[in-house]
Amino acid sequence: MRLTAKLTAGLLLATAALAQNPDANYDEEKVGAYQLPDLLGGAKSAKEWKEKRRPEIVRLFVEEMFGVAPGKPKNMSFEVVERGEAFGGKAERTQVQVAFDKGPNAPKMEILLYLPAGAIGKVPVFLGLNFQGNHAVTDDAAVRVTQSWMRNAPGNKSDESKRGAAKSRWDIDAILARGYGLATIYYGDIDPDFDDGFQNGVHPLFYKPGQTKPGENEWGSIGAWAWGLSRALDYLETNPRVDAERVAVMGHSRLGKTSLWAGAMDERFALVISNDSGAGGAALSRRIYGEEVRHLNKSFPHWFDGNFKKYRSNETALPFDQHMLIALMAPRPVYIASAVEDKWADPKGEFLSGMHATPAYKLFGKEGMPAAEMPGIEQPVMGTIGYHVRRGKHDVTSYDWEQYLKFADMHLKAK
Ligand code: GCU
Repeated sequence: MRLTAKLTAGLLLATAALAQNPDANYDEEKVGAYQLPDLLGGAKSAKEWKEKRRPEIVRLFVEEMFGVAPGKPKNMSFEVVERGEAFGGKAERTQVQVAFDKGPNAPKMEILLYLPAGAIGKVPVFLGLNFQGNHAVTDDAAVRVTQSWMRNAPGNKSDESKRGAAKSRWDIDAILARGYGLATIYYGDIDPDFDDGFQNGVHPLFYKPGQTKPGENEWGSIGAWAWGLSRALDYLETNPRVDAERVAVMGHSRLGKTSLWAGAMDERFALVISNDSGAGGAALSRRIYGEEVRHLNKSFPHWFDGNFKKYRSNETALPFDQHMLIALMAPRPVYIASAVEDKWADPKGEFLSGMHATPAYKLFGKEGMPAAEMPGIEQPVMGTIGYHVRRGKHDVTSYDWEQYLKFADMHLKAK
């Protein structure tokens, strides 16, 4: 017994160490004063925001952080590779292969789509990338096992044994029961998550003759993943059962950074959700709390563009902060979620970026974040910007989904 307790304590310590890099600040007292770049830049109306300030901010994030991405590939095609009934008749399942070019070697991604069975009319859908393959989001035996390269998998391949391994992160029952569909894609289909100089994934498809890697201001992996979400939306627009004007893009952690960037770049997304996206996502960079730009650039140099490397230990030089990324969603609803033990992602910094994005929403006569102070644990606030911090660690739970569904009901059901 004693040994078990000791072991458990050791494991807990190891997990805490992983979640909290010792080479980072976790002391609120040390956050000190910082000045955020001006959000509105003189814009006094929704028109001025849309026509002048928003495009300026988009340009800054494109150039200095996420990189320029291409548009819709002209030879893209969609092929339904499987269709059937799922969950004892509660859902209709469709698996769609999206080929980004012609020919057998074209890069492809596979969309798993569940729609509530027997729904009348077009349904709203949550769209999100997943970390472990479509077969890991559910026990459904008909979901195809991904063959794509996978980070943290033995031999970098997944297999049948991982079926359902991530199902606690996808409350499919709740989503369907509330009348929503779910579309998900394994993020590594679009670009494998490792620093290989962009030889794999979708990048090479767009190289100009003689080009071997993206330029300093061209897309990294997050740019590519976000682009993939837009291509998934292109498919959803062709599905007569889906209401493509009511698609909520959702992501966790690095994929939460991605859902924010997708929502910023593609205004077709009607609602945007960031789950524990942290640094480079919802968290303010200038607070220097938890993960910093130097950590991001060291561990994951491929996520952002070359220009972003300039801001290593140099956050004050950034021409923006992350509240401006949140503001790019305005006037569309955006939800930011944190977890109290996820200090690496800086829960308070995630709340504050939502709060500081509010002036952009006010230009549209919208409420923005309905709280001037960070709410208590599991006391969600929902205006046009929503926020909660739940108990527990870096993860996606049914608690999180319950709030997303409530928020989607508020904003998408009425549409
Ligand atoms: C690391 C990384 C974070 C990221 C997270 C994840 O912790 O430092 O920026 O959000 O991985 O994607 O799980």
